[in-house]
Amino acid sequence: MAPNTKRPKPQAVEVISELDTMPRFFAMTSRGLNDVLEQELKDLGVEKVLKGPGGVYFDGNWAACYRVNLRSRVATRVLLPILDFPAYKNEELYHNVRKHDFTKYIKPTGTMAVEANVRESGAFHDQRFVAMKIKDAIVDQFREKFDVRPDVDSANPDLRIVARCYKNQFSLSIDTTGEALFKRGYRVGMTDAHLKEHLAAGLLMMAGYQGDRPVVDPMCGSGTLLIEAALMALKIAPGVQRKSFAFQKLASFKKDEWQKEIDRALADEKDELPFKFYGYDVDRKALAVAERNADEAGVAQYIEFARAPMETLKAPPVENGLMIVDPPFGQRMGDVGDWLETYKNLAHMMKVGFKGWDCYVLSGSPELSAAMKLKAERKFPVMNGPIECRLLKYRMF
Ligand SMILES: C[S@@+](CC[C@H](N)C(=O)[O-])C[C@H]1O[C@@H](n2cnc3c(N)ncnc32)[C@H](O)[C@@H]1O
Repeated sequence: MAPNTKRPKPQAVEVISELDTMPRFFAMTSRGLNDVLEQELKDLGVEKVLKGPGGVYFDGNWAACYRVNLRSRVATRVLLPILDFPAYKNEELYHNVRKHDFTKYIKPTGTMAVEANVRESGAFHDQRFVAMKIKDAIVDQFREKFDVRPDVDSANPDLRIVARCYKNQFSLSIDTTGEALFKRGYRVGMTDAHLKEHLAAGLLMMAGYQGDRPVVDPMCGSGTLLIEAALMALKIAPGVQRKSFAFQKLASFKKDEWQKEIDRALADEKDELPFKFYGYDVDRKALAVAERNADEAGVAQYIEFARAPMETLKAPPVENGLMIVDPPFGQRMGDVGDWLETYKNLAHMMKVGFKGWDCYVLSGSPELSAAMKLKAERKFPVMNGPIECRLLKYRMF
């Protein structure tokens, strides 16, 4: 029998029909954080969540979208999927995009941008060409209807379309976020190998942290884990410091709903905490950065930073603390071999200094984890940028 070379008839599927009906959004995150993101969305009162590759779908009205953008600590971006279709030729791509009414999203005098990511799709291999084709199909609609077309503004558009194409299957979404959600706005100083904010929050959630107890980071660098823990404990929404979100520029933007979400988030904030957070490092510069970042985040009064080598550290005299650490692991800071001794010493310090504590270690190297010679009670796989890591749980008796 001859192989079936027939390809599916191109057919655009409108993922949503009306902006005011209940749309399905997609909250993106890093690999490994889907479970905590799913739980977080449920805790935010978002219903009908469904895990997918690279994130979690949720059904909700625009208020839910605003809330997730404002309050999610783990999501990196919230998309509104609008169109799915297969295309093999330029004309198919153009016509499928053309069929969807984009004029309802922004004014014809507004600005737009298209970001395309294409993989394994035959003739479509130039991302810039694909983005241009989609942009043409959109601006032609405006021109036909209003005789005016939106300008392209890649940096700060009113409408950003995110197009993904894998094996000729296109999916187009509207970005409701703008600048990625992990850019909380408090990072005024940089260190070499800091964790992204959403990953730090996700690791704390994986460790079962609920903002209800002290946290210690013996190698705290720029302090991301502790700042995120303090924000969680004080119930400060991670988006409150942001100046704007992409959804504010869409025609569907409901200012009063957005204001309600902000008011609710502010009303939930706590004024004080009955416990503190503790960060140590050997690097003076890193500690200075951590202090500035904590200050910018408005949590400096709750975090005690001190210069101390991890090797001789003792747990602070607190009840029910959580120890979590992101030690150097030789990809961004030296070689794996440089850190074998440090991991051995870390295990020793945990045994001697943190008896009775749950200790979580983020490791990006099986060789370094093995050097600790401790049996992990649990291992959570998670991506730290391009680095495959494990969050290892140790119970120190
Ligand atoms: C991967 S970085 C931590 C990054 C941090 N999680 C952040 O988000 O900024 C590891 C940190 O361990 C510190 N460090 C290395 N050896 C140490 C030691 N023996 N005692 C204490 N800190 C150490 C380094 O100075 C560095 O800041």
